Amino acid sequence: MKATLQWLVALVAALDLIRPAPAAEIPALMLGSAWYPEQWPESQWESDLALMQKAGLNMVRIGEFAWSSLEPSEGNYALDWMERAIEAAARHGMVTIIGTPTDTPPAWMTSKYPEILRVDEDGTQLQHGSRRHFSIGSGKYRELCAQIVGQLARRFGRNPHVVAWQIGNEYTEDSFDDESRRGFHRWLEHKYGTLDALNKHWVTAYWSQTYTDWSQIPMTTGRANPGLLLEYKRYVTDTWRSFQKNQLDVLRAHIEPRQLITTNLGGLGWANRFNRQQIAADLDIISWDEYLGSGWFGNSRNGTGHLDPVRSGATHDLVRGWRRQNFWVLEMPPGFVDWGSVSNSLDRGETRAMTWHAVGHGADGVAYWQWRSALNGQEQYHGSLVGPDGEPVPVYAEIAQAGAEFARAGPVLGGTEPVSEVALLHDYDSRWAIDFNRFSQRYDQMQILMDYYRVLREPTLAVDIVVPTFDLTRYKLVVAPSLNIISDALAKHLTDYVEQGGHLVLGPRSGMKDEFNALHTRRQPGPLAPAVGGQVEKFYALLESVPVAGAWGEGQSTVWAERLDPQAPDAEVPLRYGPGNDWLTGEAAAMRRRLGKGTITYLGTVLDSGLMASVARRWVREAGVTSPVVPVPTGVKVSRRVGNGREVYIITNFSASAQEISLPGPMTDVLNGGEVARLELPRYGVEVVCRPARP
Ligand code: GAL
Repeated sequence: MKATLQWLVALVAALDLIRPAPAAEIPALMLGSAWYPEQWPESQWESDLALMQKAGLNMVRIGEFAWSSLEPSEGNYALDWMERAIEAAARHGMVTIIGTPTDTPPAWMTSKYPEILRVDEDGTQLQHGSRRHFSIGSGKYRELCAQIVGQLARRFGRNPHVVAWQIGNEYTEDSFDDESRRGFHRWLEHKYGTLDALNKHWVTAYWSQTYTDWSQIPMTTGRANPGLLLEYKRYVTDTWRSFQKNQLDVLRAHIEPRQLITTNLGGLGWANRFNRQQIAADLDIISWDEYLGSGWFGNSRNGTGHLDPVRSGATHDLVRGWRRQNFWVLEMPPGFVDWGSVSNSLDRGETRAMTWHAVGHGADGVAYWQWRSALNGQEQYHGSLVGPDGEPVPVYAEIAQAGAEFARAGPVLGGTEPVSEVALLHDYDSRWAIDFNRFSQRYDQMQILMDYYRVLREPTLAVDIVVPTFDLTRYKLVVAPSLNIISDALAKHLTDYVEQGGHLVLGPRSGMKDEFNALHTRRQPGPLAPAVGGQVEKFYALLESVPVAGAWGEGQSTVWAERLDPQAPDAEVPLRYGPGNDWLTGEAAAMRRRLGKGTITYLGTVLDSGLMASVARRWVREAGVTSPVVPVPTGVKVSRRVGNGREVYIITNFSASAQEISLPGPMTDVLNGGEVARLELPRYGVEVVCRPARP
């Protein structure tokens, strides 16, 4: 009897052992870093992981460049080390995100299958030795990707510590190899059906561009036909999308649905080699990599070497807008990068402030790149949390502070998100169309978008940046700064929004072109002209500013001026041009009318910042947008997340000195405990306060 009992107890214990461990949950606020265990002797892992745990990190991201360690020779897989790394991280309280290694095909592969190598636009085929050296259009490469991803998915798709997958790393370059070129031609044939249709929409009679065979159509990003240039961007988008889908399908076939699939988009958020919203549409959650530049890099100015909270905030809101859902920042520099024109360090406190700023705008996870610099390789100098000796560097303590704070704030912020009644429209087609021919180099559409963002966010604490085709009815105010391409379908969508009670503002250059990037035969804003109740007589690129005045106030028209012709009897003209440019003097600079239950406004110029700010406040007021104002000094940024019956304010001080803030009433101090009504924030100080949500 006793023996039977003992046997039963042993059986129960054994069964318990074989029962799968419960799957780890994604932490409400995730803090992590990129870790490359394959670059280090396994004996080093424990001390690295112990230091991560001590800093409050609860996630590691591994694997995204490890193909040669996962498949050292064709079909010979070595996944055990990854399993041991995941287990070791779990023992230190960390969940894992696995990156698929498809950004870095190994040398055995590129030498055996050179056709998978990317070809630059000038015809140069890439060599092995860097990354991103594959062609997104290569069928063979996709086959090889599916094989390694299948191996990983079968092995780790049920691993309880793996919470998410990242496909590839920072999709970037397209390829001009013959297979991709044939793909472009097939794509065009599929879209247009006949060459006659293509020739018609691209108006190829111009400069004898008429095509009589699909193979004649060039693939270029140079100064080509605007219809061709736009379609090439769409083709690249679709190619990345199918490249991603190839891996998505394999993952989805093998992994548990609780494991989310993402990709980390780079290019400082705004890169536009392809339409990122469409890439995001197929994933479970979107991520981006927030870095700061320090001046000129490549062809673009990418920053001052310190966080510009407006630009950073707008980028978070852009990323959040792709899926209208909270997101992750899967890479942030721990202090500095190694690729800036001057790779300066962020100030003491700035990395933590930057981390919290992301959370304010909807990040539910932040990870630093990287934990520890590889001893060799192209990025030896890059910022990290520990040095090559494995010991903490100075910024470690600051990140550890964020780690402790994330643990405290996670339960409060879980289930909350920024809620906005205002949307700014960012449309890739229109952006490309303007970039192909800026007409005036002074028309910097991204700066214009940023200027609108700044003045709209200040009084509202939340702006969504979304694509125009989304359902807009949740917004009281929608502003489209440079919506160059407006198809009939989009015009109807926007008109419906207004008729149902929305307030729509169109900025300059709106509705010039159709979806083939051809000029509309109807004057701007093309198919929206009837709704606007007027049209643009002519546009002018300005060298000098021109005064404007009217019911909206007084100021300057800069950069771009459209002479408007309000035709509907009920069209109001809240701004007119003053003297200075004879084509414009006395003419309408803005027009506005009621339509259905809403209003539609056309502003044909770029206003100076003072007038812009007061006009935006007027739009916000007139549209009845709620302004949950916490009055703060310049440089202090406030974000608000709402959900689970509470509203949480995240306040960061990016000004040059300490600041005092009076809250509208007493609130719970989430980071320090107790109640507060006044805050004292040192430079880069962060406070998180909350109160029950108002009905
Ligand atoms: C990112 C990339 C990382 C690392 C980092 C350095 O763009 O995803 O792998 O190279 O830059 O700043």
